[in-house]
Amino acid sequence: MKKIIAMTLLSAMVLSMTACGSKEVTEEATTEAVATEEAATEEGGQLVMATNAEFPPYEYREGDQIVGIDADIAAAIAEELGMELVIEDMQFDSIIAAVQSGKADIGVAGMTVTEDRLVTVNFSDPYTQAAQVIIVKTDSEIATPDALAGKTIGVQLGTTGDLYAEDIEDATIERYNKGFEAVQALTQGKVDAVIIDREPAKVFVEQNEGLKVVDEEFTVEDYAICIAKENSELLEKINTALATLQESGKLDEIKAKYINAE
Ligand code: ARG
Repeated sequence: MKKIIAMTLLSAMVLSMTACGSKEVTEEATTEAVATEEAATEEGGQLVMATNAEFPPYEYREGDQIVGIDADIAAAIAEELGMELVIEDMQFDSIIAAVQSGKADIGVAGMTVTEDRLVTVNFSDPYTQAAQVIIVKTDSEIATPDALAGKTIGVQLGTTGDLYAEDIEDATIERYNKGFEAVQALTQGKVDAVIIDREPAKVFVEQNEGLKVVDEEFTVEDYAICIAKENSELLEKINTALATLQESGKLDEIKAKYINAE
């Protein structure tokens, strides 16, 4: 992406420099700008990934690095495509807009494939099966999704947990920018339960005393990579790369690195 801007700027400079010169040069400069834009996600270029690094074990910060399953999968895909991976960290509910506007090429953020999102972006083939679960305090009487009726529920803004919480009868929803903040609110007794993705839930429960994950899952979902609607060429490339990584065992290897088998 940065490259396009740089090249377009350069072309603009060439244009203005030759503004009083011959017409041919001007046309050449314009063609070059178009060609560079098409080469935006070509071999040798950058693959810009939008994420929200508040979601262990999929994406989180370790020092100044963003690590996790999604970061490793995206790096492996970039390698397959001969591209350089660049990670942009942002709020979860900004990721789709970043991909739509071309600020990022792909969104990789433990993102669930939903009908609503499919209206605005495309999704790659799924790379993992996931689920929404409920976190409560160890002494809570909430033991099933049905028991959430009438309760105060913490969620991360704009996630599927947020979406499902809206369907719970008489529930009050408290939305937080980070999943971890919802978990803190639970620890402090500000909410009765948190709806969040299974693997992050396990990490948060491990890091905080007095919490547990309810056995019965709320939903089962698929994670996939989102890509702008018009970028069907990149979609195809990503699917091919994912299939290669699946066949070689690399995908399973990455998941096993971050998730301990039970
Ligand atoms: N799977 C959920 C969703 O797609 C939550 C994802 C949150 N991801 C993150 N990196 N914070 O809505």
